Amino acid sequence: MDAVEHRKALIHILHMAYSGELAAAYAYAGHWRSVRDPQQKKDIHKIETDEWTHRALVGQMLDQLDGKPQCWREFMMSCIGLSAFIGCFLTGWFLPMYFAGRLENANTQEYFVAAQHAEQLGLLEMKEQLLELSEVELSHEDYFHRIVQGHMLLPLMIRYFNWGHPQPEPLLQPPNQPSSSLP
Ligand SMILES: [Fe+2]
Ligand SMILES: [Fe+2]
Repeated sequence: MDAVEHRKALIHILHMAYSGELAAAYAYAGHWRSVRDPQQKKDIHKIETDEWTHRALVGQMLDQLDGKPQCWREFMMSCIGLSAFIGCFLTGWFLPMYFAGRLENANTQEYFVAAQHAEQLGLLEMKEQLLELSEVELSHEDYFHRIVQGHMLLPLMIRYFNWGHPQPEPLLQPPNQPSSSLP
């Protein structure tokens, strides 16, 4: 990949992440309000706050790269996030926990790949920020992974959605992986 392609790929991931964080924040705003356990309420509220912080940070990265947010994606992800907000009140305890964890898994990997593109462009500060974002998403995933363990629906969900195994495979390669690992 040359620099133009790395830049294009990085902006594409940041566009998805910027709007994805919006959807996630809306979804968690519904999620923490829908659970009864006070500790879970507090934990998920904190995760919502993290997603707003991530969105602001990714917005700054897009600014730096002259990549304006995409209106159509913002609209689409707002609709998805607001649907998830409502869905959390209708689908019970387990499904929002499970799908939150599965989504966090994708976010972890998305930021990790973005960090590799940033490294190839010599944007080392951005690379470090993206790796930190990836770590936070991994901690979110861990939280939901732990909380769904032992639920009676989990084996069925693992079969269909392939996430939530009792001992998940390591998701990330070590930082500073050579660029040949890029897709
Ligand atoms: Fe996030
Ligand atoms: Fe997250």
